[in-house]
Amino acid sequence: MAGGVGTRFWPFSRTDFPKQFHDVLGTGKTLLQQTADRFTGICPPENIFIVTSVDYKDLVQKQLPFLTPDQILLEPTRRNTAPCIAYASYKIAVKNPHANIVVAPADHIILKEEEFKRTIKKALDATEKRDILITLGIKPSRPDTGYGYIQYIPNADADIKKVKTFTEKPFLELAQQFLESGDYVWNAGIFIWNAKAIMKNFQLHLDEMADLFEGGKKVYYTDGEEAFIKKTYSFCKNISIDNGVMEKSNEVYVVLSDFGWSDLGTWKSLYEVSHKDSAQNVIDGQVMLYDTKNCIIKTPKDRLVVVQGLDGYIVAEYDNVLLICKKDEEQKVKEFVADAKSKG
Ligand code: GDD
Ligand code: MG
Repeated sequence: MAGGVGTRFWPFSRTDFPKQFHDVLGTGKTLLQQTADRFTGICPPENIFIVTSVDYKDLVQKQLPFLTPDQILLEPTRRNTAPCIAYASYKIAVKNPHANIVVAPADHIILKEEEFKRTIKKALDATEKRDILITLGIKPSRPDTGYGYIQYIPNADADIKKVKTFTEKPFLELAQQFLESGDYVWNAGIFIWNAKAIMKNFQLHLDEMADLFEGGKKVYYTDGEEAFIKKTYSFCKNISIDNGVMEKSNEVYVVLSDFGWSDLGTWKSLYEVSHKDSAQNVIDGQVMLYDTKNCIIKTPKDRLVVVQGLDGYIVAEYDNVLLICKKDEEQKVKEFVADAKSKG
């Protein structure tokens, strides 16, 4: 899934160049490229499908040149993750109705790659035999309202635990209660299931959407696909897989996971996973610091940036935008983006 705009990570993430296409960590590879690499050894490259906006077609093709046009699924409008997953599932099922599918966001970082592979393989072993929906659960560290929260039935003997409740993006008070209870894990947003199970659940919980994409069976992989998808998306509900299916289904299971996961949705999450200097600053750029601590500073390499007296700030410059914002108040970034857009 590579069609989001990632506004919280502004000014790096822009509508015309969202974060999944950036080398956010300075490793030489973009988040999308790292995500594709991660599946080496799990599935052959010809089985990787990228679902993205028609606007990012060239970016995807350039960053992943091994993809054939059939492997890039283009969405004419943004409808969130349920239609994105439905499109891919119904298309994949045409060629292989028994496919096991891993759904992965293109903008996450995973530090322990080998552990990630082990976890995915464990889940794939299960979906090979059972028609269930599996998600990966991460031990929560703060009452973050940007995640889904999963309560599972504790069973020390089972690697794959039955989910009791799935609550997408709760209010802060509820997130705090979930965290304190110790009974919940975060939804990593990485899903594993077989084509039959996900199509059955679309039929049960988003039946109109299921019928729409099912109706394309004869046109996927043909010249008629583009026109069919354009029409289908104009009728399609705008809803996430989490709200549309995961919260409703009673066939959800979770694998408790620990592979150094981060959503990288926000500046704070980048700060948390990055290397820090002795004053707890994260620096990417040509920077001179005086009496400055706990900051994240990411500026163009050809610009000398001098900072004095800041504690706990984000200083980020990209293209024609410079952002200076308290790290603890970064939720306001969305507001800044809206205001900046209205000012043109
Ligand atoms: N193709 C396509 N089309 N991709 C999309 C679209 C769309 O309309 N909308 C979002 N995506 C992609 C994003 O680029 C991202 O890679 C992924 O789908 C998830 O979307 P987000 O918008 O980033 O979701 P989220 O982070 O708010 O919430 C999800 O992930 C959390 C963990 O990171 C949920 O699954 C939460 O439950 C989960 O905790
Ligand atoms: Mg996300």
